[in-house]
Amino acid sequence: MKLIIATQNKSKLREIKQILKGVKLPVVSQDDLDRKFYLKENGKTFFENAVKKTLPISKVYKDDLVVGEDSGLEVQYLRGAPGVYSKRYSGKNWTYKKNNQKILKELEGISQKNRKANFHCCLVVFRSGKLIKRIDGRLNGYISKESKGKHGFGYDPIFYLPKYKKTAAQLPSSAKNKISHRAIAFSKLKAHLYKVSRST
Ligand code: IMP
Repeated sequence: MKLIIATQNKSKLREIKQILKGVKLPVVSQDDLDRKFYLKENGKTFFENAVKKTLPISKVYKDDLVVGEDSGLEVQYLRGAPGVYSKRYSGKNWTYKKNNQKILKELEGISQKNRKANFHCCLVVFRSGKLIKRIDGRLNGYISKESKGKHGFGYDPIFYLPKYKKTAAQLPSSAKNKISHRAIAFSKLKAHLYKVSRST
């Protein structure tokens, strides 16, 4: 049995493999498989999208564990937006910069205490086409008043972490990857796999 990571995103894969180091199963990505999968992320929740990325692979690779995730930014003042629309929030010709500018504009004049936000990662594990585990990871912070920092990606330059007095993009990737929503979810998965392997 192997652990298949249902992602085609190389930087996510690197991050995930790093977190899963020490897991006894061989870890491979969907790009390492013989069969190719073209998946649509058109669900209404992170959970639905995570399932859409993972289930079709699990139906084919029945003996393996297949893990997938979907993630994004939720801003309290915007009632959870951009949520599942995080990637293309500024429209068809989206860029990370345009997405960030859109959020900053929507929060113009809003005080610090009303700028609460979180990154959310929903991870699912399938075996033989059946959901066997769902794990959620969240990183809480605030939307800053301006974009700062060069590291990371996406909304990192406008995601302020009070504990560090920095945006996520001002933290080196190694530091962000220890505290991120994805790190939280995949570390929980690692602990779960360890527990299961000891009880079988
Ligand atoms: P997906 O899960 O690859 O579809 O990512 C959705 C979008 O959420 C990304 O394109 C980013 O805009 C945003 N996002 C997810 N995780 C992060 C993160 O760790 N930092 C900044 N933005 C993120």
